[in-house]
Amino acid sequence: MADTAVADGAATTEKVAESAPTVVVDDVHLVYRVHGAGAGKGSATSALSRIVARKKATGITEVHAVKGVSFVAYRGEAIGLIGRNGSGKSTLLRCVAGLLPPTRGKIYTDGQPSLLGVNAAMMNELTGERNIILGCLAMGMSQEEAQTRYTEIAEFSGLEKMSPGILSRPMRTYSSGQGARLRFSIAAAKTHDVLMIDEALATGDREFQLRSEARIRELRAQAGSVFLVSHSMKSIRDTCDRVIWLHDGTILADGPTDEVVAAYEKGR
Ligand SMILES: Nc1ncnc2c1ncn2[C@@H]1O[C@H](COP(=O)(O)OP(=O)(O)OP(=O)(O)O)[C@@H](O)[C@H]1O
Ligand SMILES: [Mg+2]
Repeated sequence: MADTAVADGAATTEKVAESAPTVVVDDVHLVYRVHGAGAGKGSATSALSRIVARKKATGITEVHAVKGVSFVAYRGEAIGLIGRNGSGKSTLLRCVAGLLPPTRGKIYTDGQPSLLGVNAAMMNELTGERNIILGCLAMGMSQEEAQTRYTEIAEFSGLEKMSPGILSRPMRTYSSGQGARLRFSIAAAKTHDVLMIDEALATGDREFQLRSEARIRELRAQAGSVFLVSHSMKSIRDTCDRVIWLHDGTILADGPTDEVVAAYEKGR
C-alpha cells in the first residue's frame, strides 16, 4: 500500500483485531479518457495553430482524477470524504461502487457497495410511487418486500405531508430537494454492507437533513460502513468519526473528524 495516508498505525492494528474490513482500496488510480476532445470544434485560428504545431485534431485528453489512493474501511465506521470541487471524491466512490474500473490498483469489498448520489438513477417520467417500488427491486428486494417497505419509505420521505398527492406525480415535477429526499429514503430502507452517499443530503432542508443524519447513524450501527461526501462540514462533523481529505486526486489526510476537518478549514 502507498504511504500517502496519515493513519495512526497503532489504532489501525487495534481495529483489525476488533472489526472486519469492509473496503480495502490499494493504490488506486483512475484516468478518464475523453475521446475527440476539441476535435471538429474551435475557431479557424486554433485549427491553423494546431496544424502548424502538427498536433492531431482528434486527440484523446486524459484526466488523472484519482492518483494512488489507499485506505481500509472497517465495519461500523462512518467515513466522510471531503475536498474541493474536482478533487476526485465522486470518482473514488464510483470506483468503490464498481461503476468505474480502476486504471491501476485494486479494490476489495465485503458485499455489494451501494452508491446513493444526487444523480442516482431514477426514472423521471415515472411517479414517485413507481420509483419507490423500482428502487426497492433494484436493491434486490422481492416484489412482496418492496410492497411492504413502501409505506415506510413514503413516510420517511415526508413528501406527502409536504405536498399531498406528490407521490402519484412524475418525478420530473419534483424540486431538487424533494427528489433528493425520495432517493435517500429509498436507499436508506435497506441495510447496506457499504452505503455511499454523494452529497445527497445537501439539497434537503434542515429538518430532513437531521432525519437523514440520524438514519445514517442507525445504518452504521447495523454493522455496515457508511461513506459520506459532503461540502457541509456540519453534516460531516455530525455524522462521521473519520474523515479522508482528498486533494487533486491524492489523500492529504485520513484521521479523526475533528483533526482533519480543522486542518481542511484552515488550509482551504
Ligand atoms: N466523466 C468524466 N470524464 C472526464 N473527466 C472527468 C469525468 N468526471 C470527472 N472528471 C474530472 O475528474 C476530476 C475529479 O472529478 P470528481 O467528480 O471526482 O470530483 P469531486 O471531488 O466529486 O468534485 P465535486 O466536489 O465538485 O463534486 C475533475 O478534474 C473532473 O473534471
Ligand atoms: Mg462530486
